[in-house]
Amino acid sequence: MATSVNELELPEIDLLGLERDEANAVIEAARAQHWLVRNPFGYAVTRHEDVVAILRERRFHSALAALPQLQGVDDSFRRDRPSILSMEGPEHARLRRLVAPAFTPKAADRLRPFMRDVVTGLVDQVADAGRCELVGDVCDPYPIPIICELLGAPKEDWKLFSAWATDIFRIFNNDLQNDAQRIRAASDELDAYVRAMIDERRSAPAADLLSDMIAAEEAGDRLSSDELVMMTEAVLMAGTDTTRNQLACAVALFTEHPDQWRLLGEQPELAPRAVEESMRFLGAVRGTGRIASEDIEYRDVVFPTGTFVATSLAAANLDASVWPDPYTFDITREPSASQQLTFGAGIHYCLGAALARAELQEALPLLARRMPDIDTSGPIEWKPATVGIWGPARLPLTFTPT
Ligand code: HEM
Repeated sequence: MATSVNELELPEIDLLGLERDEANAVIEAARAQHWLVRNPFGYAVTRHEDVVAILRERRFHSALAALPQLQGVDDSFRRDRPSILSMEGPEHARLRRLVAPAFTPKAADRLRPFMRDVVTGLVDQVADAGRCELVGDVCDPYPIPIICELLGAPKEDWKLFSAWATDIFRIFNNDLQNDAQRIRAASDELDAYVRAMIDERRSAPAADLLSDMIAAEEAGDRLSSDELVMMTEAVLMAGTDTTRNQLACAVALFTEHPDQWRLLGEQPELAPRAVEESMRFLGAVRGTGRIASEDIEYRDVVFPTGTFVATSLAAANLDASVWPDPYTFDITREPSASQQLTFGAGIHYCLGAALARAELQEALPLLARRMPDIDTSGPIEWKPATVGIWGPARLPLTFTPT
């Protein structure tokens, strides 16, 4: 007989305000007791198997649309237009089918030389000094030019995109009460800009993502202008802060493992493994959430309609039943960490995963070669654990000048 989740005796956890090691200890203790835990918003799963199962269960819908509600804020500032991240069912499947060809590893590979140029330009500015603040000097400026190049926006407009992205990201800052207006204004400006770009590309297609998405067609079906604008906004939002934080997380991790940094500098072919292992060990997206769209039975437990379940990607990535010695960071790990869950799983699996992998695979070995012997020159400041996309806020480094 299945039991309602509300009637179960479960370990209760609240990770707010805990240091990373403390949070890991709390999670390990809880998952040794039960596969499910209670948290302040509802429930959470922490084992790899359960996180994948919940994310693959289509009747669990994305909780993103419910973020304002969960924060207790009026969401009237939002557009009526749904984002791909919060769409479900056949609507979502249609959109993914149409845009998927523009996001293949091959499409991402086309941008690798451009990625190398961007990182090289950023490193050139600090290489002689032998010191930098990696977040401000390298990680923050890295993804915007790439997303702009991908979309086909001209170089002189990169700063605009950067400002819009910063304001739209405020949605994750747990302060919607104050931020709603700025978010809406940035989103309106981006909307107008992209519509003008779409008009241009319709008459003169170019070799860029926007032209590819305009041309995307399946059995006579095409993306509408509204959908193209939404996809552009989704790519900008989902593709910049994630990548810059993941890069900073990875380098922060390597400061604790100088031997592996040296190895990566000497053997750049280890880059794909280094990226998977860094994302496993220290992912910039710690978790995501789902809401039961109907009563769902899983493992003899009923999750009534409306139940919120957090899927802890970070905890699943440290599951000893998948990775022996999960708390050891090892870029030569066998098998590699490619099952890491920082890109999510199921129908919302990160659309930009190939692009993000390429960006990190280009940046990390290049940094390891150009910034040998890195060491921290002050404390690493971490963003508060409450932010949705997490990583170092400041990462002061010294290295042998090159
Ligand atoms: C290291 C960098 C990145 C990480 C860690 C990351 C992580 C994620 C995760 C966890 C999800 C699923 C969220 C959920 O299930 O609730 C997701 C979805 C998504 N990501 Fe990424 N992402 C990264 C980079 C990118 C890039 C570069 C792009 C764009 C080019 C991108 C575009 C998207 C889109 C459009 C979705 C929504 C897919 C859907 O709902 O079908 N991401 N990402």
